[in-house]
Formats: sequence, structure tokens, C-alpha cells
Amino acid sequence: MPHDYIEDELGRKSVFKSEQYLSIDYVPESLPHRENELRILAQSFKSLIATPGRTSQKFLIEGPVGTGKTAVAKRFAEQMEMAARRPGRNLRFHKLHINCRVNKSAYLVYLKILRTFRPEFPRRGHSPEEILQMIVEVLESEDRYLLLILDELDYFIKQKGGDILYNLTRLMDDQLNAQQRLSIIGVGRRIPLDQGLFDSSTLSTLQRNILRFKPYNAIQLQDILNERVRMAFEKGAIMKEALQMICEIAAERGDARYAIELLWRAGKQADSLESPVIIPDYVRKAKADTHPELRVEVLSTLPKQTQLLLLATARKLKEGRSAYVTIGEVEEMYRSVCEEYGTEARAHTQI
Ligand SMILES: Nc1ncnc2c1ncn2[C@@H]1O[C@H](COP(=O)(O)OP(=O)(O)O)[C@@H](O)[C@H]1O
Ligand SMILES: [Mg+2]
Repeated sequence: MPHDYIEDELGRKSVFKSEQYLSIDYVPESLPHRENELRILAQSFKSLIATPGRTSQKFLIEGPVGTGKTAVAKRFAEQMEMAARRPGRNLRFHKLHINCRVNKSAYLVYLKILRTFRPEFPRRGHSPEEILQMIVEVLESEDRYLLLILDELDYFIKQKGGDILYNLTRLMDDQLNAQQRLSIIGVGRRIPLDQGLFDSSTLSTLQRNILRFKPYNAIQLQDILNERVRMAFEKGAIMKEALQMICEIAAERGDARYAIELLWRAGKQADSLESPVIIPDYVRKAKADTHPELRVEVLSTLPKQTQLLLLATARKLKEGRSAYVTIGEVEEMYRSVCEEYGTEARAHTQI
């Protein structure tokens, strides 16, 4: 009989009970250490439900990677939708989360909004302005309200400017005495406001409504992870020391996403070694396998010249198979990289 690898795998024990609770997209019910932020949002947005149509809200959430911005915005929008739809209120209130890194143009963002109400709307054949106008009409004619979350907005503004936020914030203002049907939460690491993108009243509203998320410390990360451990792992599957170690490592950046990734990888380590328990050594190995600072999204938002220089350095290191290269060698490579990408190389002193 040939060896049955599939039965082997199926019969193998795992430290995981429900791995999906460690996935990037999972948003937990409760968000420890973000209660204040959620309360502030609720205070600012409650009027949308209490006196619908009277005002619109614009809010920004800023903070480093992994500080819970997306999780908070999503959870909050969901609670708003639920509150607005409760019997007695019965508002046609919709939340929509759009990742601007994925929907890379204003057109795609507008289209995505319109398709929330018109799922069959064709992808091509209309200008952005026409789509915007149709959004207004749908909201008006069907008496709907929309809470829009524009996530990773900083990335978008850097690439395409602030028109999108400007156009959306103006959407309702242009109509005299119109019902206010659109509110926005912009999310990003740092959202550039001070570049003449907005008229002074929009700008001052936005500046007043910025919520800044701080990095988590080790104790806060521990609270966040405890819940995940309970949901994702079998009982007793992780040593206390191993969990503490994860929190301490991730606290250097205050990054909950990194903490969860370490936890998941350490679990994978245990499984692959057929150990029923995650020990600190697996955390060490997990850490060695990850480079939290080397995320594609981080690299893709560096200035062009920095990217080119980095590429040149990487190529030079690869070519030489060595641990070090001289700056002279990097510069030489940098000039050829610039040529390849049709960019003018900076002078030596600027590098
Ligand atoms: N306070 C929290 N409680 C529970 N999980 C959290 C908390 N903050 C962040 N997370 C989790 O950490 C990960 C990263 O959070 P995320 O909201 O994506 O960060 P950001 O958008 O700031 O980069 C997600 O899996 C999220 O569910
Ligand atoms: Mg995010």
C-alpha cells in the first residue's frame, strides 16, 4: 500500500481550534483599549440617527499600522447601521467600507458606492461626475443615508490628490437646503490636509475631527491576544511565556496585526513539529520568519527616488551575494535603475 499523505494530514492533531479568528479580515466583537475611541465616534455621529438629514459628519482616523483603525471603523459603522435600522427608527442607513488601495481611482470608488444601491450598474460608459450625480439621486429618491469609510485614504491622496474627499464632502453642500445623506470617515496612517485641498470650512471641520490612535503597549496587546487565543486555539495550546514574548516583541511597534501574525505563525510552527503546545522557541522562529517593517504596502508608499535607491541596493547585494556593498557600487546600480524606469538620477550629493 502506498503511503497515504492525505489521511496523515487529516489525522494530524493541531493546536488550532478555529484558525479563521487569526485571519487579517476578522473583526472581533469587542475591541479592548479602543472603547474611548468608539465612544467619541458615537458622540459625533449620533445626530445622524437622532436627527437624520440635518447634518453630515466628516471624521478622520489616523495612526500607525496595526493600531486598530480599520477594525474600529468597521465595527463602528456596523453598529451605526444596526442602530439606525432598529424598529422605531427604520432608517435606510447603509455603511460602506472602501479600501482606497484596492479601488485605486476616484472613478472606482464612486462606482463602488453606486453599486451598493445598483449592483448591476455597468462598469464603463459614464464619467466620474455622472456617477456622483447618480449617487446623489439614488440617495434622494430612495430616502437613503450612507456612512462611507474611506480606508487607506492617505495612500490615495498621495497618489491622486485630495479631489475625492473634496468632491464627496461637497456632494450634498451644493444643493440648497438639501437633506444631508452622506457622512465620511477617512482612515489612514497620516492624512495630508494642509495642501490647499479643501476650502477653509471643510478644512477646519476635518482638523477638529481627527482621532489619533496610539500604538499598543505590551499589556494592551496581551488583552487583545487573550481573546484571540481563547477563540483560535485548543485549551492549553500556548505557554504563558510564549504569549508574553509575542506581546513584548509586537509592543516595540505597538502593532496588533504583527502580534496576531506572530501568534499564528508560532501555532503553525507547533503544528509542523507536531507539538501540542506553543513554546517560546516557536515564537522566536516565527519572529525570524517575519519582517513587519518590510510590507509591500510600506514599500509601495515610499517616494519614487527612495524606491529606486532601495532597488539598486537590493540588486547590488544580490549580484555580489555579499553581506555589504559600498555606496559607490550602489550609486552605479542606481543610475542604471533610473534609466530603466525612465527617471532622472539624483546627483551624488543628494543621494
Ligand atoms: N483593540 C483591538 N482588539 C482586538 N483586536 C484588535 C484591536 N486592535 C486591532 N486589532 C486586530 O489587529 C489587526 C490589525 O488591526 P487593524 O484595524 O487592521 O489596524 P490598522 O487598520 O490600524 O492597521 C486586526 O486583525 C484587528 O482585528
Ligand atoms: Mg487598516
